[in-house]
Amino acid sequence: MTVLITGGTGYIASHTAVILLQQNIDIVLLDNLLNSKAIVLDKIELITGKRPTFVEADIRDEDSLDKVFAQYNINSVIHFAGLKAVGESVENPLSYYDNNVVGSLRLLSAMDKANVNNLIFSSSATVYGDPERLPLDESCALRTTNPYGANKLQVEQMMSDLCNSNDKWSMVALRYFNPVGAHESGLIGEDPNGIPNNLLPYVTQVASGLREKLSVFGDDYDTVDGSGVRDYIHVVDLAEGHVKALGLFDSVNSSNEGIGFEAINLGTGNGYSVLEMVKSFEEINGIEIPYQICPRRAGDIDSCYADASKAFTTIGWKAERGLDEMMRDAWNWQSKNPQGYEE
Ligand code: NAD
Ligand code: UFG
Repeated sequence: MTVLITGGTGYIASHTAVILLQQNIDIVLLDNLLNSKAIVLDKIELITGKRPTFVEADIRDEDSLDKVFAQYNINSVIHFAGLKAVGESVENPLSYYDNNVVGSLRLLSAMDKANVNNLIFSSSATVYGDPERLPLDESCALRTTNPYGANKLQVEQMMSDLCNSNDKWSMVALRYFNPVGAHESGLIGEDPNGIPNNLLPYVTQVASGLREKLSVFGDDYDTVDGSGVRDYIHVVDLAEGHVKALGLFDSVNSSNEGIGFEAINLGTGNGYSVLEMVKSFEEINGIEIPYQICPRRAGDIDSCYADASKAFTTIGWKAERGLDEMMRDAWNWQSKNPQGYEE
């Protein structure tokens, strides 16, 4: 069994690749290196002792995908490739529709031709928009508020429509909550371009002196202390969720009948506020994080956290790592790699 991983040198994919290699599962990583670097392959090899096969290609290039399916004996795909900055998607929606929707369409089309019928897709809690209720379960209303979220929803819809068209398909949309942290080795982690959009990368850059202070976007939300609440999940827990989800395909590998479409939340079920996150980082790592309260960030919601029970019942997964490990590993990565993957 070989698993094709699109966006394979990216943040979440590289952590997933490590676990798959450690479980002796063959993988092919495909990436156009738009938001990642080939040096990640060296780091994966350092951790696992195995060098993953790498194909530099764009998912929108269907000929390249056809060649990959012809060359390797692939039976499942984990599809991480895409653009992921919400604000950028508002400014430049066409590039987001092209990369995320057209790219996914090309991938599905190549899979169809190659008769590769098992897919795990990186979806996002952003598909729930302003939550209908909390905690968010998979039956909550889907109502996105930006092009990035719309892209995720459209790809989920394509997956579901395909499953309705032919029962050969098995398609799982994993809806991630807020991935943070890094591999405990400190060899791989998140390497944001420029000024980080996300909370924890910003906090670690303040801790390392790269940024002066954190801006806390709003202290007047209807939450425990007024700052926004999210469900932060350790990236290694998230990666393990993909490996567990692959297990859903075991039963179909021998038959022609797929499992159809499933959407599954990957979160911890716990919500923490921005100020709680800052305090936790300070306590675990013994570093003070200067911050100032700023106006709310456009488009942000009060609170977002998962009901993660479906993940447990369907794929036997639950998050194992707490806030302490998230903070420790995020700082371990940042302090060992102050410039990310730059030498
Ligand atoms: P990332 O940017 O580190 O990884 C994405 C990878 O895809 C990058 O290596 C990039 O070079 C590659 N890529 C982009 N467009 C491509 C294309 N057209 N062809 C080939 N490769 C391409 O991001 P990540 O945080 O690891 O996210 C992975 C997936 O998870 C994305 O689909 C993202 O939308 C989704 N997701 C991320 C978060 C988060 O907060 N990190 C939350 C929810 C969902
Ligand atoms: N925040 C700050 N200061 C910062 C950055 C963030 O106060 O410098 C706050 C935000 O206002 C929010 C919380 O920290 O309350 C988390 O913000 P992030 O930007 O880290 O995460 P979001 O929840 O806004 O979005 C993330 C991903 C999206 C994904 C979503 C899914 O960036 O791609 O989770 O829940 F869609």
